[in-house]
Formats: sequence, C-alpha cells, structure tokens
Amino acid sequence: MSRLALVTGGTRGIGAAIAQELHNKGYRVVATYTKNKEAALKFRTETGIATIPFDVSDEEACLNGIKQIHDEHGIIDILVHNAGITADATLQKMTSEEWHRVIHTNLNSCFYLTKAVLDGMIQRNFGRLIYVSSVNGLKGQRGQSNYAASKAALIGFAKSVALEMATKGITANVIAPGYVDTEMVRAVPEAVLSKIISTIPVGRLGTAEEIAYCVSFLADERAGFVTGATLSVNGGMY
Ligand code: CAA
Repeated sequence: MSRLALVTGGTRGIGAAIAQELHNKGYRVVATYTKNKEAALKFRTETGIATIPFDVSDEEACLNGIKQIHDEHGIIDILVHNAGITADATLQKMTSEEWHRVIHTNLNSCFYLTKAVLDGMIQRNFGRLIYVSSVNGLKGQRGQSNYAASKAALIGFAKSVALEMATKGITANVIAPGYVDTEMVRAVPEAVLSKIISTIPVGRLGTAEEIAYCVSFLADERAGFVTGATLSVNGGMY
C-alpha cells in the first residue's frame, strides 16, 4: 500500500496544494481543517482527498484525530505540519490573547502531532516530518513577533527531532516559504503588501504549487539523507 500523508490545514492555501501534490504523486492523503467546513467539503469533493476536522491547538483533539486516522487509514508515514495562523500587530499593540493563540496553533500543535505520529514511524523505521515555517521565522517581520517566534521555533524543534530520529529512518525538515499568493497574504494591507513585494528579487508572490513541489521532495523516499534542514522557498527574498 502507498505511504500515508497527513497534511494539517490541508484544505486551503498552501496546505491544499501540498495535499494535492502528494495525492498526484500517489500517496494516500488525509487533510485536516478546523472551522471552514464549506471549503473542506468543496476540497474533498473536487479532489477525492480525505478530510478530518480537528483543532491542532488542542492536545486532546490532536490525539483523538490521530487515533481516528490510524483506525481508519493506518499508520501515518508523512506528517506535513502546515496549519498556522497570523494575528499581526506591533508588539506594543499585541494582546496576550493574540500572542497565545498564535503560539498554541503554530507551535504547541507541532509537539502534540509529532509525538502522536512518532511511535508508528519508529515501528516501521520510516518517517518524514515536514514543518511549514516562514521566511519571517528566519528574518523577523514588523507586526509578527508572535508569528515569527512560532515559526522560528519550528526550526529548533525539527533540528532536535532530526537528531533524535536520525538512526530510525525518520527525517525532520523545515520548509520556509516566502510571501505566497494565499488568502493569508492577501489579507495584508495593500499598501504594505506592495512594499513587501518590491523586496522580492523574483518580483512576484510565490504560488502554493511552488511550495508543494518542494514539500514533495522532502517527503520522497529518496530524500532520506536530508534531515535537520531548512529549505527556503522565497523568491530570493532572504
Ligand atoms: N515593509 C515596509 N513597510 C511597512 C511594513 C513592511 N513590512 N510594515 C508596515 N510598513 C509601513 C506601512 O506601510 C506604514 O507606512 P506609512 O506610514 O508610510 O504609510 C507604516 O509602516 C505603519 O504601518 P501601518 O499603518 O500598517 O501600522 P499599523 O500599526 O496599523 O499595522 C502592521 C502594523 C500590523 C505591522 C501592519 O503594517 C501589517 O499588517 N503588516 C504586514 C505584516 C506582515 O507582513 N504579515 C504577513 C502576513 S502573511 C504571512 O505571515 C505568511 C508568511 O509566512 C510570509
């Protein structure tokens, strides 16, 4: 049977493109979503990719969700942790709720999900852990101290897990997209976004498919010697 991939936040934006790319390459794919049931239903109908709703910021929901996937689809071979949110505000204006919401969703989730899939991967001596970070986790961004902190932390997390799992056939890597044409980026105020685009050497936003292609490289059986790495896909921005 083909490898099973779980893509969090996999029914919209970059996650949907990743789920589609892996599906096209012959993997079995399950995509998670949280609130947008309508988009998830449309995605499932159009692609035939399985979807499951759970909130990645909630530890119990993650454990139940992973158990359900194991029961219904089998052991997860590839975890693509893509789900993430922004709550942009300069630090002076940022509320405690905005800080915690972003850290819970983008970072704590990574601990819950990775722990939950690891035993199955160890049993089979194969696993691909792929975390979707951001150029802003590498370079920082005005208005994103919460988001940048969460995305930078994924890199330290992945590097550590890569060391722990290095002899077990399990790789842990990070992909750091730049500004990609998604709803999240389109929500940036137009005046600010045009300034940001002017700093991208390639001269445009990336596409979700360009990120998905790179994720599929890290997921590949043949990428077993790539671990603890961070792959920047940002049009030369940083
Ligand atoms: N580059 C250049 N100029 C910037 C800037 C930036 N990144 N961010 C803000 N500015 C400028 C604004 O254009 C504005 O300039 P003027 O005074 O000349 O008009 C000035 O700084 C003040 O900005 P705001 O009026 O917007 O200030 P604010 O307090 O209302 O909002 C903010 C501040 C929340 C940071 C807002 O500017 C903003 O949302 N910035 C975008 C943050 C961002 O890049 N988010 C990325 C979301 S997508 C994502 O996160 C995906 C990913 O991984 C890349």
